[in-house]
Amino acid sequence: MTDGGGALRVLVTGASGMLAHDLVPALRAAGHAVTALGRPDLDVTDAAECLAGVAGHDVVVNTAAWTAVDDAERHEAQAFSVNAVGAANLARAVGRAGARLVQLSTDYVFDGTATTPYAADHPVAPCSAYGRTKAAGEWAVRALCPDGVVVRTAWLYGSGGSNFVATMLRRASERDTLSVVDDQVGQPTSTVEVSALLVRLLDAGLPAGIFHGTAAGAATWYGLARATFELSGLDPDRIAPATTASFPRPARRPAYGVLSHDSLTAAGIEPIGDWRDGLRAHLAGR
Ligand SMILES: NC(=O)c1ccc[n+]([C@@H]2O[C@H](COP(=O)([O-])OP(=O)(O)OC[C@H]3O[C@@H](n4cnc5c(N)ncnc54)[C@H](OP(=O)(O)O)[C@@H]3O)[C@@H](O)[C@H]2O)c1
Repeated sequence: MTDGGGALRVLVTGASGMLAHDLVPALRAAGHAVTALGRPDLDVTDAAECLAGVAGHDVVVNTAAWTAVDDAERHEAQAFSVNAVGAANLARAVGRAGARLVQLSTDYVFDGTATTPYAADHPVAPCSAYGRTKAAGEWAVRALCPDGVVVRTAWLYGSGGSNFVATMLRRASERDTLSVVDDQVGQPTSTVEVSALLVRLLDAGLPAGIFHGTAAGAATWYGLARATFELSGLDPDRIAPATTASFPRPARRPAYGVLSHDSLTAAGIEPIGDWRDGLRAHLAGR
């Protein structure tokens, strides 16, 4: 499938996850025939299940992942088996089936020491176990599927799972004031917007390569929390800025996780718009 357009048979793995919650209906609305399989029906760590599950599809979108970033520090081998071995199993299976693979990845493949947006071809240098396992998954897809597509996203929120925006709104009803980290910069991104981007990639015939599926602009967690409060009619001055050091966590986070959208633009695919627009739409739909 390189011509673009037309209904495709699309397998979505990790179907119980937050991104899949919005991706599956978006693909169906675009006219594609979707098989959505959660872990009980397709465990990506099982090579035979991958072969059987992928057969009969044109495209596989792999949203299955070990996403517990802090737990991955203590359980890197298990995270690796999902994020790297799972991706490799699917890469081999799409090769057998003559299908295409879209692998979801993350800004955590970078160490966050940059000061300008990371280009898609910037060398990876993860600073956490989760980042290492996701970088290994990218490498497996690119090594085993020359026409593989890697879509890195970041700071996701959506109605289909727990996320920072939902946590802030819950805490707003539990506490008068909140302290939120103001020294990590990223791109808060709606799962609805990533889903729409994935549909656009399919429409464009899935050009091979690495693309950044994050919203435009940048914010700190503190900025995202304030925007969430403002757009929800809450007083943003209830939130105080804090440092990463004041909230010690097992996994190191990239201080700067802003990704460039140049590879999308070069392929003629519209990147996701400003993060505030996605947040506004998400909160309006709650
Ligand atoms: N959330 C973010 O902020 C974020 C940021 C950057 C990149 N990403 C990437 O975006 C993608 C989607 O993330 P998400 O937020 O939708 O994550 P999620 O809500 O944690 O969903 C991941 C899904 O994968 C499933 N899974 C775990 N192990 C599996 C296995 N062995 N076989 C099959 N399925 C398995 C999980 O099933 P269970 O429900 O059974 O655990 C879960 O439903 C992932 O590749 C993630 O790395 C996410």
